[in-house]
Amino acid sequence: MKLFIDTANVEYIREIASYGIICGVTTNPTLIAKEGRDFKEVIKEITQLVDGPISGEVIGLTADAMIEEGREIAKIHPNMVVKIPMTGEGLKAVKTLSSENIKTNVTLVFSVNQALFAALAGATYVSPFVGRLEDTLHEGAEVVSDIRNMFDFYNLNTEIISASIRSPKQLADSARAGAHIATVPYEVLKKSLIHPLTDQGIETFIKDWGKVFGNRSTK
Ligand code: G3P
Repeated sequence: MKLFIDTANVEYIREIASYGIICGVTTNPTLIAKEGRDFKEVIKEITQLVDGPISGEVIGLTADAMIEEGREIAKIHPNMVVKIPMTGEGLKAVKTLSSENIKTNVTLVFSVNQALFAALAGATYVSPFVGRLEDTLHEGAEVVSDIRNMFDFYNLNTEIISASIRSPKQLADSARAGAHIATVPYEVLKKSLIHPLTDQGIETFIKDWGKVFGNRSTK
């Protein structure tokens, strides 16, 4: 499974990109608004940090508005992916943009049927929202796994981005469920990096070494 970071914060992206674990970035209107910066300016900076798919979301609700915005987003950089909400108007926009070879990420997907429709319309990616599904007592990872089975069974080459990941467990569950990609917020990536047994292990190794060879530099 590939990893994307789900943020519009360039400092977070810079730090996590330096670990060599992410190959893409997703943003949404909430994440851009949180940074309080100009959309194009932030997106351009992100394209300098990560050489992979960068999702930028449309705001319009009609197909025509989404198509117009989508074309503008696609012009920013060749790695841009246009994020479009899963509605009838959104599907029309996906159909048009994909016929122009513009990559799309259909977002706010909560069911197998929605994922099927997005794939048939020509979406490059679909984003099931694992965390929000679990907020409403659904099994987020089960939806991801059902979508994966359906895509494989019918040879649909749309990729699944497990989104709305709120915990390390939801990240691991997404990997087990067969998501092609998980897009993960900074805080969840940081939490997923650590394990108390790793820290304890390092402490013991240093102590044991020190008993025989003296303290080694911790630099
Ligand atoms: O990628 C979609 C994600 O940003 C939504 O996350 O936590 O607002 O459900 P959340």
